[in-house]
Amino acid sequence: MNIVGIYVGHNATVSLIKDNRLVSAISEEKFTNVKNTCGFPVKSLEYTMKEYELNASNIDHVVFSSTHIGGGSLHGVPPDYDSDTNVSQFWDLQYRLFGSSIAQDIFPKIGEMLLESGKDNGQIRLRKLLIDEYGFKNSQISFVDHHLCHAYAPIGFFNLHKLEEPVLVITQDGYGDCKCGTVGIYSYGNYELKEVTSLGDSLAYIYGAATLYMGMHINEHEYKIMGMASYPSEKYGLKLYEKKFSDLVDIVNGEICLKHKIFVPWAFAKTILKERLMGERFDNIAFALQHLIEERTVQFVKEKIRKYGIKKVAFGGGLFMNVKLNKLIQEIPEMEMCYFMPSSGDESTAIGAVFYALESKDEFGVSDETVYLGKEYTKKDIEAYLSENNIEKTYDIDKPRIIEREVAQLIHSGKIVARFDGRGEWGARSLGNRAILADPSKLESVEIINNAIKCRDFWMPFAPSINEKQFQNYARFNGKVSPFYMITAFDSTAEGKTQIKAALHRKDKTLRPNVVTSNNNFEYHDMITHYEVLSGIGAVLNTSLNIHGYPMVGQINELFFTMDNSDLNYAQLGGYMLRKKVS
Ligand SMILES: [Fe+2]
Repeated sequence: MNIVGIYVGHNATVSLIKDNRLVSAISEEKFTNVKNTCGFPVKSLEYTMKEYELNASNIDHVVFSSTHIGGGSLHGVPPDYDSDTNVSQFWDLQYRLFGSSIAQDIFPKIGEMLLESGKDNGQIRLRKLLIDEYGFKNSQISFVDHHLCHAYAPIGFFNLHKLEEPVLVITQDGYGDCKCGTVGIYSYGNYELKEVTSLGDSLAYIYGAATLYMGMHINEHEYKIMGMASYPSEKYGLKLYEKKFSDLVDIVNGEICLKHKIFVPWAFAKTILKERLMGERFDNIAFALQHLIEERTVQFVKEKIRKYGIKKVAFGGGLFMNVKLNKLIQEIPEMEMCYFMPSSGDESTAIGAVFYALESKDEFGVSDETVYLGKEYTKKDIEAYLSENNIEKTYDIDKPRIIEREVAQLIHSGKIVARFDGRGEWGARSLGNRAILADPSKLESVEIINNAIKCRDFWMPFAPSINEKQFQNYARFNGKVSPFYMITAFDSTAEGKTQIKAALHRKDKTLRPNVVTSNNNFEYHDMITHYEVLSGIGAVLNTSLNIHGYPMVGQINELFFTMDNSDLNYAQLGGYMLRKKVS
């Protein structure tokens, strides 16, 4: 069966199950080169249909990963109906009236009513678009609840239908389809919804609002707060937590309850957080916020494990992009196994949607548990691009006999090297195929990458790609989680603290690894093995291939955009080695 999944909101994404196997997932930002592109993902859909020779007659079903779709999510969808302005008018209203804390409590209910009233209109517009522009029939199109898609993302991705016992599935995000989270139980094709976190009671939105208060972008820069949270003195951070954060959230009868409900984080930041945090140090705020989220979420997860007696737990939704939180969750003593959806933000709902739609038709999907689901260039494509664009005018181009050894030698000689090979990664993390690589043992690597290419904030850590044989020499691994996707952090060992120190968090010495095997990425594993022969270190420093503010590179032209607009001088492009000519 062939099923296409579409997510039309922030970081719009298209996924594909072909002949019951997950074969493709790609976000619109890879085509627009604009981070987290929102709206109907027209280019991703066109790419997917062309690449897999699909059309309305050989696609069995198209499934959208939300039911309540309005506002910016309908960007690019013709406005055939005019009644969908209620929600955006409401947002404007709240934005203007945010001066009152009481407004925080009453707005979620009004917002829920308006979202509900706009639901049909969004669906009608999207159906009409698919019917008019792509030739689908109405019966081929469906809409699935956002949190059900978050739940089915790890269920499908990790093939959880093969488990012999039930799995607890927990989702948490800002909001989606009038909910902020769910708890359910999944067992061999049966998902039973047990609990819902109400609109307004979002832990993720507290984090998002604090990110805004700190002058950064919500739904994008939360990881910067997380990175900063380890720096201040625990004494002062805890003091601020007790004074200003601890009463913001409570777990009451097993439910997450916010003291002040959040529907629009901007408003929460401008009222509650401003009143509480004015004059407090930025680093203490980061600590206290992270501490609040960790304490409450771990308590919540422990209570659910105890209540349902299930010790294998899957996690979906944007809250679980927080690798430090995930570290504590996997360390819960009673936890047997964690399944953290890689890149668990809304981009993962497109993947959850296709697995859910397939199971609704009484069939199971197959996942190779890989995020290399993006665009690939053949040798012929690369050669055509190089010659048609006169790349040799600005780059020396070689075709080494063993390109992986060449890359390893360059890294060993202290160079920073871009790697563009194989299929691009779906999701927010580079797992080596669209990557910037460097020597993980030298702290100078961090400075060079920051100054020459990434302009990252000085407190932000890089991450390692580690040969699986060396992983447990560098990280304290409890075997309760897949360590392949940079979705959870670990403590480092003494050997890790010396051998890969540039790829650890500078203050707390944790790492969020991408473990590489010959099975999950043969060529990249080969390159790291060559590097290990040269250096004695079974890992490289890996950061995503992009310039500050741009999405991770998806297409060849963006590789050259990145090279041309930075001091990155070396790149592997498939079997070719490129060296920028000195002008
Ligand atoms: Fe979500």
